Amino acid sequence: MSAGLVQAAYIVAALFFIMSLAGLSKQESARNGNYYGIAGMTIALIATIFSPDAQGFAWIIVAMVIGAAIGIFYAKKVEMTEMPELVAILHSFVGLAAVLVGYNSYIDPPAIPNIETLAEAEVHAHHVIHLVEVFLGVFIGAVTFTGSIVAFGKLRGVISSSPLSIPHKHKWNLAAVVVSTLLMIYFVKADGSMFALLVMTAIALVFGYHLVASIGGADMPVVVSMLNSYSGWAAAAAGFMLSNDLLIVTGALVGSSGAILSYIMCKAMNRSFISVIAGGFGQEVVISSDEEQGEHRETSAEEVAEMLKNSKSVIITPGYGMAVAQAQYPVHEITEKLRAQGVEVRFGIHPVAGRLPGHMNVLLAEAKVPYDIVLEMDELNDDFGDTDTVLVIGANDTVNPAALEDPNSPIAGMPVLEVWNAQNVIVFKRSMNTGYAGVQNPLFFKENTSMLFGDAKDSVDAISKAL
Ligand code: TAP
Repeated sequence: MSAGLVQAAYIVAALFFIMSLAGLSKQESARNGNYYGIAGMTIALIATIFSPDAQGFAWIIVAMVIGAAIGIFYAKKVEMTEMPELVAILHSFVGLAAVLVGYNSYIDPPAIPNIETLAEAEVHAHHVIHLVEVFLGVFIGAVTFTGSIVAFGKLRGVISSSPLSIPHKHKWNLAAVVVSTLLMIYFVKADGSMFALLVMTAIALVFGYHLVASIGGADMPVVVSMLNSYSGWAAAAAGFMLSNDLLIVTGALVGSSGAILSYIMCKAMNRSFISVIAGGFGQEVVISSDEEQGEHRETSAEEVAEMLKNSKSVIITPGYGMAVAQAQYPVHEITEKLRAQGVEVRFGIHPVAGRLPGHMNVLLAEAKVPYDIVLEMDELNDDFGDTDTVLVIGANDTVNPAALEDPNSPIAGMPVLEVWNAQNVIVFKRSMNTGYAGVQNPLFFKENTSMLFGDAKDSVDAISKAL
């Protein structure tokens, strides 16, 4: 393949990636968005493998076969609920790759094109730019690498989800950035010092660890998308080092879309974007005491079925428990039964319900719930007052009134679905246990709330039968 053809293929691939992002922004077009992404990546891979610069064809194929086999194995095995962990660990690979590309490019610098036609000052400029690229690429890659491993550990539960709070944490973070910047100046002045590169790598690895370890469990979704953004910038840095335009464009797309998603999630959780980036969440929170909240009431599937039949309007607010129980199919069943009886049924989706962005939308789409009755939190939060019955299926933090009423709560300020304004609220869960953020939920003790204990799928199945 000629160099010109490779560039043309890269432009086509970049366009497919942009179309992919556009497609993924809406549920109806998400499937096509995935196809565009696959097409873009296929074109990119073919163009790269057959480009005039590519060497070691056999090695590339061997690496791809091994990588694809591992990828297919895990993609088939992974549960929907484990998706954020998988994403986190994949980000760590991007970070590690950027570090390795950086060291490789430092030890064996790429030839400067048309060097014989360049003046000495221009060659020097090329050299300085290359050193800066190496330094920044390794820095971003190392931060992404350890940060993503910690995020993976926290989501898996192998690392404590409570925020690490060492004294003067912000000063340590600032010191890491300042020392790394000074090392970069030294690295460039010394015409590439391996010592400076190694010291900065060690600092960046610890910095990445500390950055994510300082963030509390409930804010992990924002962290995962922030690391998504970092991994994009790490890929873009690798693209600069390898002089690969497509890698630069793709890295920038991932970097900026991850940053935008983090921003949207921060807004949804009423957190400041800067404090996430600085890794400073959660440390000033006073954990509210587990004081006696009062009595809760229990109900049965038959009673709930009766209540639903007598309702004019019903809102279902699903959460992580619906995903665990795989209750979306019977939920669709009762939705259809109620709609056939003239009951208005809608779904209220909190932006961080479940464990990954769009988690509930994916599950409901899988069960063929019509898109037009699945609404975002902001679209129906004012309607709960006019609603007869709300079914809270496996949701907890996202319907917790303490977020609005208790300034000391770890989730204070997070906008929530105001389900308690409805006539009746039924909460489906297995026990009185807390949700992801580990906070008690006063909703369970409100007068208009009843608990339906048990696995959500069994409970919804029983209601469906009774209907
Ligand atoms: P959570 O607050 O996590 O609560 C889920 C509830 O489901 C639990 O209280 C649990 O109670 C119940 N449950 C679990 N398995 C069940 C089953 N088989 N049947 C019935 N109930 C079951 O859920 P949420 O309201 O969706 O909130 C999401 C939380 O996760 C937020 O704190 C959010 O910040 C965080 N988070 C979100 C994301 C994204 S991007 N969405 C990513 C990571 C973390 P029992 O144990 O008593 O059954």
